[in-house]
Amino acid sequence: MSESLILIAYVAASALFILSLGGLSRQETARRGNLFGVAGMLIALVATAAHPRFEGFPVLVGTLTLGAVVGSALAARVRMTSMPQLVAILHSFVGAAAVLVGFATALEPGPGLSPAEHGLHQAEVFIGVCIGAVTFTGSVVACGKLQGFITGSPWLIPGRHVVNLIAAAAVVWLGVRFVTNPDGSLVPLLIATAIAGAFGVHFVLAIGGADMPVVVSMLNSYSGWAAAAAGFMLSNDLLIITGALVGSSGAILSFIMCRGMNRSFLSVILGGFGAAPGQSPAPGAAPAGEVRSIDAPRTAELLAQTRNVVIVPGYGLAVAQAQHAVSQVTRHLQQRGVRVRFAIHPVAGRLPGHMNVLLAEANVPYDIVHEMDEINETLDEVDAVLVIGANDIVNPSALDDPASPIAGMPVLEVWRARTVVVMKRGMASGYAGVENPLFFRDNTLMLFGDALKNVDAILASLRTG
Ligand code: TAP
Repeated sequence: MSESLILIAYVAASALFILSLGGLSRQETARRGNLFGVAGMLIALVATAAHPRFEGFPVLVGTLTLGAVVGSALAARVRMTSMPQLVAILHSFVGAAAVLVGFATALEPGPGLSPAEHGLHQAEVFIGVCIGAVTFTGSVVACGKLQGFITGSPWLIPGRHVVNLIAAAAVVWLGVRFVTNPDGSLVPLLIATAIAGAFGVHFVLAIGGADMPVVVSMLNSYSGWAAAAAGFMLSNDLLIITGALVGSSGAILSFIMCRGMNRSFLSVILGGFGAAPGQSPAPGAAPAGEVRSIDAPRTAELLAQTRNVVIVPGYGLAVAQAQHAVSQVTRHLQQRGVRVRFAIHPVAGRLPGHMNVLLAEANVPYDIVHEMDEINETLDEVDAVLVIGANDIVNPSALDDPASPIAGMPVLEVWRARTVVVMKRGMASGYAGVENPLFFRDNTLMLFGDALKNVDAILASLRTG
């Protein structure tokens, strides 16, 4: 393929990636967005392999085949609830790739570079390797935390901000040494890689459970910048564009999530935000009182008598795979003239848009699925809220208890409705490990058991009632 044809293919692939991002921003167009992304990636792969200066076709085919087999086997087997771990580990591959590409190009910088070009090349390598190392170790730790291998509680080293500053100063100094050193020694690069890797570990370990969504999207952004840096090192324009798209869209998503969770963007980048360990709940804030339970037939009766119901899906709905049964209950209530709406918290479940995907899969109409702020405005007029497998996102201590690890995080204020029915298996806390006073409120009824079994039982009672 001629260079100009390859350039056209690269422009087409970039345009498809932009269209893909545009499509993915709305549920109605998300499928189309995915298809644009797949088409863009196919064009990119073919154009790269057809480049006249490209060598090593058998290696490309071999690695692509191996990657495709392992990737598709993993993707087919992974449960929807484990997607964030998979995404985190995929980010770590991008980070590792940037580090390896960096060392490979540092060892073989290419012939005929002027001193200025050599300095620029060394700077590209240094920055790319450092971003890659943070992304790699941070993503591995994030995967461990999400999978439960590593504790979800924040692990904060004393004087961490001073340590971070010293590490940053050391990396800058090593960078100057690496770029200006004509003998091409790799020692400064190796030390900086170790420091950046250690920072990645520390940065993610310092994050409390409830704040992990922001970190995952932050690592998504870092992986984009690592790919862009690899693009500079390999002089591949498409990789630079794609990396920049992923990097900037990940950063925008992190910013939106920080705003949604009332967190500071800067603290996330620097690591270690959220509550310090060892804080105790404010006096009177610890949950206390009596828990009142209800069974499925009485829940069905209660729902059938209402005019206005809000359903709050959470992680437990995904675990139980109760979305189809919930969709049927919704249709049944609608046929009885009940207004049913769904309330989606920005970090419900375990990945951005998790609940929207589940509800779309069960054909719940988009126009009855609302965001947190819209629903919060109307909760005083709601007859009943059905909380299905959600916990942290409906925890009043986020608003009432300044010492809570989730203090300041906006939540769905379901307790303002006339009656709240919370469906979960027991009294366990949610992902953030915080007790929930909602379960002890006077207008809360607990429907204990697996969400799918209970939603099925509610449906059966509605049908016979
Ligand atoms: P959680 O706070 O994790 O609560 C889920 C609840 O579901 C649990 O308390 C559990 O209680 C219940 N449950 C589990 N399996 C169930 C089943 N089969 N049937 C019925 N109930 C079941 O979930 P949430 O309210 O959706 O909040 C999400 C949390 O995850 C937030 O802290 C958020 O920060 C964090 N997080 C979110 C993301 C993204 S991007 N969304 C990523 C990482 C972390 P029982 O065990 O008592 O049943």
